[in-house]
Amino acid sequence: MSAVLLSLPLISIRSFMDNKLYNNEVAFELQTKKIDENRQGETLTVERPKQVDSNGKKYYIESYGCQMNFADSEVVASILANAGFDSTPEFLDADIILINTCSIRDNAEQRVRHRLQHLSAVKKKKKGALIGVLGCMAERLKEKFLEEEKIVDIVAGPDVYRMLPAMVEEAETGQKAVNVLLSREETYAEINPVRLNTNGVTAFISIMRGCDNMCAFCVVPFTRGRERSRDHRSILKEAQELYDNGYREVTLLGQNVDSYRFSEDPKLVGKKLVDAKYDEGVVNFAKLLEMVAQIAPDLRVRFSTSHPKDMTDDVLYTMAKYDNICNYIHLPLQSGSNRVLDIMNRTYTREWYKERIDAIKRILPEAAISTDIIAGFCTETEEEHLETMDIMEYAQYSMAYMFAYSERPGTVAAKKFTDDIPEETKKRRLTEIVALHRKHSLEHNLRDVGKTFEVLIEGTSHRSAEHLIGRNSQNKVIVFPKADLKPGMYTHVKVTDCTGGTLIGELA
Ligand code: SAH
Ligand code: SF4
Ligand code: F3S
Repeated sequence: MSAVLLSLPLISIRSFMDNKLYNNEVAFELQTKKIDENRQGETLTVERPKQVDSNGKKYYIESYGCQMNFADSEVVASILANAGFDSTPEFLDADIILINTCSIRDNAEQRVRHRLQHLSAVKKKKKGALIGVLGCMAERLKEKFLEEEKIVDIVAGPDVYRMLPAMVEEAETGQKAVNVLLSREETYAEINPVRLNTNGVTAFISIMRGCDNMCAFCVVPFTRGRERSRDHRSILKEAQELYDNGYREVTLLGQNVDSYRFSEDPKLVGKKLVDAKYDEGVVNFAKLLEMVAQIAPDLRVRFSTSHPKDMTDDVLYTMAKYDNICNYIHLPLQSGSNRVLDIMNRTYTREWYKERIDAIKRILPEAAISTDIIAGFCTETEEEHLETMDIMEYAQYSMAYMFAYSERPGTVAAKKFTDDIPEETKKRRLTEIVALHRKHSLEHNLRDVGKTFEVLIEGTSHRSAEHLIGRNSQNKVIVFPKADLKPGMYTHVKVTDCTGGTLIGELA
């Protein structure tokens, strides 16, 4: 079943193609999002530390999927650099080609397969060149990858990146190297990821790995393994170093950040209760957020993703208490129907979800909310589809990722249900959801016209050297005239105009 990724910004790109200045700003907006279409296939180049001798081998790495996968590529680059490898931005120049893959929807995997065919050119050019597949698709397919794609030499799951230098050595002997062991402990805590293709202002920090939720449609629990939280001290150290190096925004990443729990006593970690008596000796997400916010008042803190079942008022109050924790929450809905939510195993109801929206609006009246929605999950009726649109009306999302359901082998849904909604129906429902969301996000932006926001400047407009781009606390991209300002600075911008995806303003 093929899936369609349609999100407002993608559509905006097309709608605003003619608008020379803002077209790129919309593209820029995509770079800040969760599965960022613009970053798919991005390559990284890294400098080897001076104290490490070169081993004479060059690698090339390309990444797909979510921000966590891109963050993992920074970990991989760090591990390889410390083992003496040099990076190259040209795959034809490489001894080892790595591709960090995603399995979330069928089209994500198809994209990787096409890319592998293309990359195989290196083998014709260079005898002995190796191709390695990393990440979620490697984990999902395991040895089968080697049978299905003959050009692959290395298959490495997301928890074995420390083994990569050894796996390359093994593959050099002509043997295929496969390691897809998942770990209950690995968080790459002390590996300082090298920051790549960075604007020097914003960075991502992985705070946990894996997921224990078992949403019926989702492959992540199988590809990423059990949920585990990273030691808060190494998170704080990384955030502090980023700040000291001039970064002014960190985004804390996890599949379900609200269930972050770290304790040196493993007995305490397993407990999911947010009851204070169980939280003694434990750093939960609200506490972590507070500690990161306290690093510096001019370090912005964001996070992704929240799960509606776990998002506590505690977290919302912590957000309200610190001006530098951004007023923005990504709260995936998936469906607005109680029956569908139940068979998706999301473990909340539409009433619960609406109450969470109410809590956000009550505690953080300025906050913008974004979401993920799946159209055409197994057995979804027309009425149930309308119930999803009804919640969209209620929540008035500023941003949304919207997908047609794509059956993933091995998931609960693939085992228990038939993927019975015809492709045209899925697409039609998706189109309706996208149209409604476009209306909401434009209205959302129109409500901002006339308001003044604090903006963290991230760079110069690609189209106009006279314009800068940055985001407000609500995660909206704002374009405004340059004046005497630089990336990394804060400024106040008054919004004078907007498109569906971007605010346009002048210095206040
Ligand atoms: N942990 C994150 C999800 C990461 S996957 C969360 O809970 O938000 C990102 C999004 O992809 C999901 O929220 C869901 O909307 C979508 N998705 C996941 N599996 C899918 C599938 N099989 N078909 C279509 N969309 C899917
Ligand atoms: Fe997938 Fe659900 Fe975990 Fe998100 S919370 S990664 S959708 S299983
Ligand atoms: Fe991310 Fe894709 Fe894996 S969304 S966790 S890279 S399946």
